[in-house]
Amino acid sequence: MTSINNSVRFVLDGAIIEADAAQHASATVLDYLREHLRRSGTKEGCAEGDCGACVVLVGELSVDGTAISYAPVNSCLQLLPTLDGRSVKTVESLQRANGQLHPVQQAMAESHGTQCGFCTPGIVMSVTGLLQTVAKPTRDEIKDALSGNLCRCTGYKPIIDAAVKASEAAPEQIRLQDATELALLQQLRQAHAEDAKPQAQPFFAPTTLEALADYLAQHPQATLLAGSTEIGLQVNKQFARPQQIVYLGNVSALRQVEDQGASWRIGAQVCLNDVLTLVADDYPDFAEVLRRFGSPPIRSTATLAGNIANGSPIGDSMPCLLALGATLELRCANSTRMLDLEQFYTGQKKNALQSGEFIAAVHLPKLADGQVFRAHKVSKRFDQDISATCCAMRYQLQDGRFAGVRLAYNGLAPSPCRAPKLEAVINGRTPDEVSAAELDQAVAQSFTARDGLRASWTYRALLARNLALQFVEEATAQEAVK
Ligand SMILES: Cc1cc2nc3c(=O)[nH]c(=O)nc-3n(C[C@H](O)[C@H](O)[C@H](O)COP(=O)(O)OP(=O)(O)OC[C@H]3O[C@@H](n4cnc5c(N)ncnc54)[C@H](O)[C@@H]3O)c2cc1C
Ligand code: FES
Ligand code: FES
Repeated sequence: MTSINNSVRFVLDGAIIEADAAQHASATVLDYLREHLRRSGTKEGCAEGDCGACVVLVGELSVDGTAISYAPVNSCLQLLPTLDGRSVKTVESLQRANGQLHPVQQAMAESHGTQCGFCTPGIVMSVTGLLQTVAKPTRDEIKDALSGNLCRCTGYKPIIDAAVKASEAAPEQIRLQDATELALLQQLRQAHAEDAKPQAQPFFAPTTLEALADYLAQHPQATLLAGSTEIGLQVNKQFARPQQIVYLGNVSALRQVEDQGASWRIGAQVCLNDVLTLVADDYPDFAEVLRRFGSPPIRSTATLAGNIANGSPIGDSMPCLLALGATLELRCANSTRMLDLEQFYTGQKKNALQSGEFIAAVHLPKLADGQVFRAHKVSKRFDQDISATCCAMRYQLQDGRFAGVRLAYNGLAPSPCRAPKLEAVINGRTPDEVSAAELDQAVAQSFTARDGLRASWTYRALLARNLALQFVEEATAQEAVK
């Protein structure tokens, strides 16, 4: 086989597809499927991850190499290199050899879940993906799985009915047929281990942290590609064409979560769906912020580290991470340093990463005894929309008074940040001693008024006060219960 660095290799319906990396490094999976493989069942609607017409399932070999797990992804955002070493299923893959439709396709037709049909392939793939992991989903689970699929025609009820009906089919009919793919993915994994050697151009997919760190030290100008949800947008909407891509998705050390007792160490390539599962019990509010982050196909690839590195002023995970005191593990060549997340941003979309340095992991502290964590995101649409403002607060009550308050926001400043003046208003007070007027004054003293695309300053300033006040008042209720 040729070197992995010159080609992107993936499995599609029982065959290994080998794409020239020099030619296709910044092609999207969608364009490659449609234009080179003539898989035109997968549609392009928005080309920005919002409509779901392009959803396909990407399969990944389990660690022990015995099974493939599937995740729905927006093929319009995924650059072709993210398929390296993986398999892909499109709507064309579902039909059985005897011509029989997959139960999801059959149910969509019988329940009138399709009219003009443009959204249908994406919806079929999202529902098929859901049924691979949840055999009998509730209507709410189905709605959640479809939060990234828009349909202009049906009004959704027939689609949800179809998903329920499909879930009644026999499991062997629902399960994706992938025995051939399994063998081919094992073959690709073996090839990765043997030939992932760095080259200068145009695409490198290291498998070890050391190879990644060495490569970046020598090629600091290379573009780090993680979940591709931001870089895919830059390619589609700003016509960016990264000349040299280093893909993090095959570095197994970056995909691990370690429980370190007082904190979790979350590898840089852990996707947001996995972070959501991780924090669901300890931080239900953080999990809810993440459940409203994009949609399942966005979260199945988008990473926590990518959200932090991207540094949007309205990035959703950062208020939670700042309030919880997260630290970043930064790696450059052979050396590693720890940096508090609150020291990371140096301006709008600017950060403290040095040349050749990258985020290797995010360390997320667990709550100590008596600590409480609250967070709430306000956005124009409930699902599939980034914040107008998100607020998160960690505190404890000592003898009825707030202590150790950490309050953080997005949407108020050039980067997500803590709000020390608001924290000072709350710290040391009983909940009923905290006044709206003092919080308003602290907001005005802390931030420069500026209107944004998603909200006016007046609205955001009001949200900043009201969200903090809501958490404070809930603490009053909590005290009353004791
Ligand atoms: C439809 C849609 C919905 C979205 N919804 C939301 C939302 O609700 N809330 C929200 O906050 N964001 C949202 N986003 C933005 C985006 O999904 C997130 O910022 C995401 O977390 C980026 O992660 P990624 O792994 O996809 O990053 P990528 O696109 O792969 O990379 C983003 C940037 O981070 C850099 N980078 C990645 N990993 C590292 C690393 N380990 N070290 C250093 N640099 C690194 C890359 O070089 C690049 O500059 C949305 C985007 C889309 C397209
Ligand atoms: S084309 Fe709309 S999400 Fe991909
Ligand atoms: S059937 Fe027309 S967009 Fe869904």
